[in-house]
Amino acid sequence: MAASGLTVSVVGTGYLGTAHAAGMAQLGHDVVAMDVDAEKIASLSACELPFFEPGLGALLRKGVESGRLRFTTSYDDLAGADAHFVCVGTPQAPGSCAADLRWVEAAFTELADRLSGPSVIVGKSTVPAGTARRMADIVARRTDQVEVAWNPEFLREGHAIEDTLRPDRLVFGVETPRAEKVLREVYRTVIEEGCPVVVAGYATAELVKVSANAFLAMKISFINAIAQVCEATGAAVLPLAEALGYDDRIGPRFLGPGLGFGGGCLPKDVRALYACASELGLEDVAAFLRQVDVINLGRRDRILSLGRELLGGSYAGARVCALGAAFKPNTDDVRDSPALAVAAGARREGARVVVHDPVAVDSARRARPDLEYADSILTAARGADVVLLLTDWTEFEDLDPSVLTPVVRHRNIVDARNLLLPTRWRASGWNYRS
Ligand code: UDX
Repeated sequence: MAASGLTVSVVGTGYLGTAHAAGMAQLGHDVVAMDVDAEKIASLSACELPFFEPGLGALLRKGVESGRLRFTTSYDDLAGADAHFVCVGTPQAPGSCAADLRWVEAAFTELADRLSGPSVIVGKSTVPAGTARRMADIVARRTDQVEVAWNPEFLREGHAIEDTLRPDRLVFGVETPRAEKVLREVYRTVIEEGCPVVVAGYATAELVKVSANAFLAMKISFINAIAQVCEATGAAVLPLAEALGYDDRIGPRFLGPGLGFGGGCLPKDVRALYACASELGLEDVAAFLRQVDVINLGRRDRILSLGRELLGGSYAGARVCALGAAFKPNTDDVRDSPALAVAAGARREGARVVVHDPVAVDSARRARPDLEYADSILTAARGADVVLLLTDWTEFEDLDPSVLTPVVRHRNIVDARNLLLPTRWRASGWNYRS
């Protein structure tokens, strides 16, 4: 890709910031990425990714070796850039559904205190509506040279590079032509390749992101709600979802019934949106969105109860094999992971739970040291009274009942992601539930 000659800074080198920084270098910009965590910066400078993301390690190395991507722990090193992207975390605030904005505020304040020449600070973090306006006020009190824009990210874990270099759309929340011009220059090659750009005000740009995630969450909870109706009526949800998906207006994606959504975005964004609606006095809207969360969390109980039924009514003293810890395949992320929640639930009810995941064992062990972990499916399944298949890794799709049969104690399996062929497992003498 052609060099565009801009200097870009990135504040916060978590998942989003690292992918964005490496992507910006790949687009030909000179990038300096900053984080207050010296350990993280040291490992990124040595081209080591502190998390798992397909292809990102290679892109990071390419950027660093080309000299276009540097890392620092000091805000002072960011001063000359044309655009500063704020990619810090906005986790759910402790004891509340609202987003914790302290890192966003710190980044805007620290930047504004140091910038003297014309530049744009671009928020990418997911924030409640009204944040960009507040950040613009913070900046305006310190300098009149610096503008604020909001450019939400839509990164899917496992697809971070594709989503950075070839996004479905770009959203620019801007208030001046200059800020829009800088953003168009930053993304010039992406736009030339045909990516649509939606230009809007701050609040719209902020809301696009949470609305997109709330919609995806709603679609998953919708099919999971219908799955309950199917169970109660003897209908089959998989062909039903297939039939719905052929309708162009509905589409087949995010209609996979099962254990429901988790991760660092969907749950947090739905909760932030209903907290925001409730604060605005929009109680009907808040109740509607809250139900998406309630149905989703209910899936975890349902899967636990299927396992309990197979065990004859109780987990106490049972040996459980949990396949999957990550919230979805192709990531080692276990934040709000439905898989880990179910494994922990079985443990709480008195089972001995052994978890296997192709890449997330280390992160799961840090999050739930009370569970046991195994580095292979067969080790995890040895002596199991029930197997719970909880994350839809392709590695698990190929599970062969004849391989598991000799190692388990009882042939019970709950397929929480509808990954396996029920007829094949039943024909091998397994009690199969999904
Ligand atoms: C999501 C959005 O897709 C992305 O645009 C946004 O920027 C960040 O949040 P991500 O958190 O990586 O990305 O996860 P995603 O691929 O969207 O999956 C979310 C969850 O939904 C996973 O737990 C997945 O297992 C679940 N899911 C997905 C289902 O339960 N059923 C489905 O049909 C699809």
